[in-house]
Amino acid sequence: MGEMAFARNLLKGDPLELSRLRRAKNEPNFGVQIATNTIEEGRLAVVKAHEAGADWVDLNCGCPVFEATRRGLGSSLLSSPSKLAKLVAGIADDSPLPLSVKIRIAPHGKETNVHKVVGKLREIDSLAAITIHGRSAGDRYTKAADWNLVGDVVASSAGTVPIVGNGDILTHFEATQRLNETGVAGVMVARGALMKPWLFQEFRDKATWELSSEDRVEVYRRLVCYMKEHFGDDAKGRKKAFYFLPWHFENFTRYKHLPEEEYGDWGSPLMQTRWDVDEEQLPLDYVLSHRDKAAHDLIAASLWDADSDADAVARLTALGESADLRALDAGAELGEVEELANTGSHRGGRPRKPVIRRTEEEIAVLRAERAAKRERTGAPPHVDSRSRR
Ligand SMILES: Cc1cc2nc3c(=O)[nH]c(=O)nc-3n(C[C@H](O)[C@H](O)[C@H](O)COP(=O)(O)O)c2cc1C
Repeated sequence: MGEMAFARNLLKGDPLELSRLRRAKNEPNFGVQIATNTIEEGRLAVVKAHEAGADWVDLNCGCPVFEATRRGLGSSLLSSPSKLAKLVAGIADDSPLPLSVKIRIAPHGKETNVHKVVGKLREIDSLAAITIHGRSAGDRYTKAADWNLVGDVVASSAGTVPIVGNGDILTHFEATQRLNETGVAGVMVARGALMKPWLFQEFRDKATWELSSEDRVEVYRRLVCYMKEHFGDDAKGRKKAFYFLPWHFENFTRYKHLPEEEYGDWGSPLMQTRWDVDEEQLPLDYVLSHRDKAAHDLIAASLWDADSDADAVARLTALGESADLRALDAGAELGEVEELANTGSHRGGRPRKPVIRRTEEEIAVLRAERAAKRERTGAPPHVDSRSRR
């Protein structure tokens, strides 16, 4: 499914919004997602999506961002289930494409009303499916998705509209577990695919892919090649690509091999678990797990400048061996120790956390402090107890 498009801007012919209707040549099944709160706008946007070659349209009733909610769109529609059902019925009526709806379990700052919302929506005969993201609009990513509640809704809607569940799916075995335990018709993934673009293949194979760091570099370089094709392989293209490319490494660097034998009965969602960076890793593994934004810029630059996968591996290995990256790592992990900072950096348009440069001895002291803190808090060595996203 494409990124959410504001129906009003689509109908005005806004080129950015229209780009969200573009289907990739190899996409076998493509849905356009719209945000609207009027029947007329919604119906016209469905016609536009139909003309653009979409297979179905999804109405976004889950987006919590202010840009949507201040206009009465996205998750703000959940506050009034009857009005929402009227809107959906009006858009679905005589629609040239199947219509689905994406919701959350609760509107912002309110108790869950997902049973009521789904109860109203399932009365609409022509509604193709409902996707439930198992968090409230206010939760963002602070809590694990509530799959028990999703399962309850499925149970009470049996025989009516298909329900798709969404939230925290990172592995094929979590997807299978959610399907089996809740009876959802399918699962939707989001961040999992950003961290592991090969996740869909794992679903198909029902097996965990164990990619070496070199294999991962190949995957990431493929993305770079697509960006070069799209934006152009010159300074202008690079500038445009760099609005997106370093950002991808915020997700890619969270990758961890999670075999089912080891993690299948972990208990809490793997997506919500923050793993510590192993400092004893090989340089290439180390650079590909670096969580600092400044490192993501450097990784992106190495990949962009490389002229082959092997060259990319060599450049990234050299980066992993550089003392700068080690200093950055200590700074990123222990950014609160401000008094040790003696340099700052600001590359490109986005403001950056200052790069903290330290001597080897300072870094050793900080690492020892961190290990002691971990021991005090009782966190297992591979799990960082502070931060769960
Ligand atoms: C970068 C990013 C962009 C997103 N854009 C949309 C969007 O356009 N429409 C939508 O319904 N949800 C969007 N979402 C939310 C996801 O579809 C999904 O509901 C949410 O991330 C929970 O799933 P997850 O735990 O698998 O990430 C986005 C999420 C992320 C991380």
